Amino acid sequence: MKILVTGGAGFIGSHYVRSLLADEYPAYRGAQVTVVDKLTYAGTTTSLPMVEPRLQFVRADICDAQPLLDLLPGHDAVVHFAAESHVDRSIGDAAEFVRTNVQGTHNLLECARLTGIPRVVVVSTDEVYGSIATGSWTEESPLEPNSPYSASKASADLIARSYWRTHTMDISITRCSNNYGPNQFPEKVIPLFVSNLMDGKSVPLYGDGSNVREWLHVDDHCRAIQAVLEGGRAGEIYNVGGGESLTNRELTERLVALCGADWSAVRHVEDRKGHDLRYSVNDSKIREELGFRNHVAFEQGLADVVRWYRGNRSWWEPLRRREEAVLART
Ligand code: NAD
Ligand code: DAU
Repeated sequence: MKILVTGGAGFIGSHYVRSLLADEYPAYRGAQVTVVDKLTYAGTTTSLPMVEPRLQFVRADICDAQPLLDLLPGHDAVVHFAAESHVDRSIGDAAEFVRTNVQGTHNLLECARLTGIPRVVVVSTDEVYGSIATGSWTEESPLEPNSPYSASKASADLIARSYWRTHTMDISITRCSNNYGPNQFPEKVIPLFVSNLMDGKSVPLYGDGSNVREWLHVDDHCRAIQAVLEGGRAGEIYNVGGGESLTNRELTERLVALCGADWSAVRHVEDRKGHDLRYSVNDSKIREELGFRNHVAFEQGLADVVRWYRGNRSWWEPLRRREEAVLART
């Protein structure tokens, strides 16, 4: 097996690559992995076992055709993670989101078509459905994205669908809820709050903190992606959830306690523009069709993540310093 993974130096992509190389997926034991990653601010080779002989790392942009056309032949599958992924950044400037998430996905699929790649999984998000006050989205729910980020991901999903329908490519799409775990860039709420609290800094809670997110451990998400890669049907979408639904206030209370801080560290700040109130997916399809089950209990997973950030300052501090230096120059 030879798998090409886009965005494999990011949070979820690197976890997936490490799991593949650790032979955690029996049907892909011994797989060769090619990572294609542009190494934006969110990507770092320090999340990857770069000395592993089964890993080939290529720094390239998924919007450029030539590197993909050179690399793709001989691969059995593509798992597509590469994206601009942070909602707040898409509110500040959406251009890179449209470029990477829409044009990049199109370019990747076109190159996969030209080189005859037998199987593609496009990693999408529950945010494409918008916001839901009660109940849960199924795969048939309408696309009602509210942020430039989620609109760009919904666009990518539609392009993927069109490549399945028009070119009969074997493509499946996954739509997952909020992930947490090690190696997440410290701009997303959990690693941002944990790293701030560990340094005695305050944490910015948006609005009244009543927004609800469903937290899924990255390890469970990667196993779901693998289940779809191996058994998912062409042209089908698979929601992935089964995590813990919490308001941001409840999540913050747990992080404050786990980090040994108190509520005085919480700063109530202006709300995110267009802030989605609640996400919730119905994922019975992946459970019934592919037998997917979550393995990581939230309380344990969250405590492990806090421990990981405490023990791995050498991973996140340089990323944070680099980002602070960029912000200071702008
Ligand atoms: P991330 O921001 O941590 O990583 C993205 C990776 O893509 C980085 O390594 C970056 O360098 C790379 N990249 C960005 N632009 C690129 C380009 N033009 N060419 C090549 N590489 C490029 O993101 P993540 O949180 O790991 O998310 C991975 C995927 O999963 C994304 O598609 C995201 O939309 C989706 N997703 C994320 C979550 C979540 O909670 N984080 C939940 C559901 C779905
Ligand atoms: O649902 C899946 C999505 O989850 C993925 O598609 C995205 O790539 C991923 O970034 C994530 O999006 P969110 O916007 O939900 O994640 P974020 O960590 O940015 O924010 C989680 C919640 O916490 C959200 O309601 C906003 C709030 N928040 C976030 C930050 C960064 C705060 O209150 N303060 C903050 O500083």
